[in-house]
Amino acid sequence: MRVLVTGGAGFIGANFVHWTRRHRPEVELTVLDALTYAGSGESLGDAAPLVQGDIADAALVDRLVAEHDLVVHFAAETHNDNSLSDPSPFVQTNLVGTFTILEAVRKHGVRLHHVSTDEVYGDLELDDPERFTESTPYNPSSPYSSTKAGSDLLVRAWVRSFGITATISNCSNNYGPYQHVEKFIPRQITNVLDGLRPKLYGDGLNVRDWIHVDDHNSGVWAIVDKGRSGETYLIGADGEETNRTVVEAILRELGQPDDAFDLVKDRPGHDRRYAIDSSKLRTELGWAPQYSDFAAGLRATIAWNRDHEAGWRPQKDATEAKYAKAGQ
Ligand code: NAD
Ligand code: DAU
Repeated sequence: MRVLVTGGAGFIGANFVHWTRRHRPEVELTVLDALTYAGSGESLGDAAPLVQGDIADAALVDRLVAEHDLVVHFAAETHNDNSLSDPSPFVQTNLVGTFTILEAVRKHGVRLHHVSTDEVYGDLELDDPERFTESTPYNPSSPYSSTKAGSDLLVRAWVRSFGITATISNCSNNYGPYQHVEKFIPRQITNVLDGLRPKLYGDGLNVRDWIHVDDHNSGVWAIVDKGRSGETYLIGADGEETNRTVVEAILRELGQPDDAFDLVKDRPGHDRRYAIDSSKLRTELGWAPQYSDFAAGLRATIAWNRDHEAGWRPQKDATEAKYAKAGQ
């Protein structure tokens, strides 16, 4: 099988390539990635050939899609805070880029797996007994999540109207190696390593449903192997934690007092809580997460960041300068 991986130099895409190399050595991979601020050829290493280019470049996408059997589409603008300061690249990449891929897979009869997020469902109250399922209505809050929601709807429409073969996954918050230091967990780990205090938005009680990136990627492969075209599958590992609990665990692991953090300005429109019910993926496709112990996964991620400073150091100062300007 020849697989085109868009966004394969980013956090989840690079881990997808490494996971596939380990578990599916027979699969031929090509990465298409624009190497934006979030992409890094070093995360990918020599695990797959890299074509540097934009998913909204119709001629390039058409040529590459024609040479593959499957597109696994990770490429996106992904950071909520950035989408609040400048939504434009989110509309261009997440909507126009996904449209460009859809037109190419339609023309060449190539299968698509579209990687999306649980944020398309909006948020839940802290005490809501419900979790997101595949039938929860879309209700995105931010420019990021609304463009991801739009991209999902484009995929659904191309399946129904043009008969393309495509699946969609909506996953919760990932953690693990190669994550950009703008994101919550690596930001706080590298802050403590740098002698800076972790920064919690608002009251620090927002809840995210954490999943190890390898569990996300094994879920993607389960859908590629056994998923039904036109279907959506939620991927989650029952990892709900408040942001404050995560920061306290990082501080403890790095030998600091539990309360050595700052509460800072909240994110506008900040979603309160995400929670995934992944029963469909588990019962229909037989998937189960391997990293059931979040504390152990977090410890390994702290160690990874401690051991890979050369990977994140070049982005750290500019990222913190941007946050400082925003009062965060
Ligand atoms: P990331 O920001 O780390 O990586 C995104 C990658 O896409 C980068 O390598 C970047 O260079 C590339 N890219 C951006 N614009 C491009 C363009 N126009 N053309 C080609 N490449 C482009 O993102 P991530 O966290 O790895 O997320 C990957 C996908 O998974 C996204 O679609 C995201 O919505 C989805 N997702 C992420 C999470 C999470 O917790 N991070 C959870 C659920 C779903
Ligand atoms: O749910 C899946 C989504 O998870 C993905 O679709 C997104 O691409 C990914 O970025 C992530 O979105 P979040 O907004 O949840 O992730 P982020 O890492 O930005 O923040 C996680 C939580 O931590 C959120 O409640 C905001 C908070 N936060 C974040 C930062 C950067 C802080 O309290 N302090 C911070 O410094």
